[in-house]
Amino acid sequence: MTAIKSVRGRRVWDSRGHPTVEVDVVLVSGAMGRAIAPAGASRGQREALDLRDGGTALRGKGVGRALHVVEQTIGPALLGVDGTDQAAVDAAILALDPSPLKATLGGNATVAVSLAVLHAAAAEVGRPLWRHVASVYDRVPSLPLPEVQIFGGGAHAGRRVDIQDFMIMVPGAATFDEVMEVTSEVYFAAGDIMASKGKLAGVADEGGWWPAFASNEEALEALVAAIEKAGERPGERVAISLDIAASEFGSNGRYRLALEDRDLATDAWIDLLGRWLDAYPILSIEDPLAEDDRAGMVAFTERFGARVQIVGDDYVVTNASLVDAAARDGACNAVLVKVNQVGTVTEAVEAFRAATRHDWRAIVSARSGETEDLSISHLATGLGAGQLKVGSFTRSERMAKWNECLRIQDTLGADAFVRGMPLADTWWGQGER
Ligand code: PGA
Ligand code: ZN
Repeated sequence: MTAIKSVRGRRVWDSRGHPTVEVDVVLVSGAMGRAIAPAGASRGQREALDLRDGGTALRGKGVGRALHVVEQTIGPALLGVDGTDQAAVDAAILALDPSPLKATLGGNATVAVSLAVLHAAAAEVGRPLWRHVASVYDRVPSLPLPEVQIFGGGAHAGRRVDIQDFMIMVPGAATFDEVMEVTSEVYFAAGDIMASKGKLAGVADEGGWWPAFASNEEALEALVAAIEKAGERPGERVAISLDIAASEFGSNGRYRLALEDRDLATDAWIDLLGRWLDAYPILSIEDPLAEDDRAGMVAFTERFGARVQIVGDDYVVTNASLVDAAARDGACNAVLVKVNQVGTVTEAVEAFRAATRHDWRAIVSARSGETEDLSISHLATGLGAGQLKVGSFTRSERMAKWNECLRIQDTLGADAFVRGMPLADTWWGQGER
């Protein structure tokens, strides 16, 4: 038992230049932990709400109210609570705000405090965070398989294309280091291809190339071409992962493809996604249907769940009961874990545990608004979650997280890289392509 002595908040700024909440937690021993809340742009309806000041200043995104909650509400309630007992700390936070969306405290306040406590506890036992996480949650640590964005899109790129994330995975790599090397080659090959078409126009919110494409298919073709230009055969060592983020352009059973000026009903949209799965080496697809389209998600999973990873992000918002419900329905076969989506470390780990109970895969994920906070590299490794998604291969709020995994690799050993997605498991790995 080492009691919490102080909880202090401060306003810092995220990768989009918006204010966010940083929290310092100090235990009576003097051990200190610090964490910063990230921020999403394509947020699920059922995820924890960020407390923002509103009004005109700072585009309404001020965090004065959230900092007040940290110092005047959460902080006093945690004084004297055992900082090494994450479950007790998070329970004390939840007792202050039983609303499902953390509407009173704000998810930005709760996540920064909860993660800062986790860091303080690791400091208390003198361990790196990943090792502490593995021991607290009784997991075998492993270095995750990255999903790395090559082209941005959707809400992260002015809705230039409908699909939000065009990513690669390198499941055929033997080490985390090898993934980084292959990714670098593909990233710059993609940039060269954009440049040669006169379409190079900077980068989107998460550092992927700006998607100056005429259609979603053109982006997919460019991604395949980039993989080939990097000297790889698409679908062998390197494959494609998409975050459709369909809630951003679909609702009530209709999907509006703005670029092509087409409006598709759920069935036609699923057929189109199926044609993409046939035509391109896609290993993973996130939020293929809108979060309100339960029947669509079930139908999609029934049709394609055996051959592709189907990830629930907005669909389950890191919420254990929504993961359970989706598993009961037969929707999705993997979960995206974003701590700020649910608001505390304990609840995020519960969602992860629910997923593993259902034999789902899990991907620990950043948000599109990020900072230098490295917690997710440690969570992904310590939980042995299997996969990590932090955005692209530029911009330091992204690279810092990949680089932290390389530092962890030095201690944990290159062999601890998860080969979580054996190629033989996938339809295209079975020679059907
Ligand atoms: P967000 O997007 O952080 O803007 O919500 C990330 C994602 O959809 O995975
Ligand atoms: Zn997503």
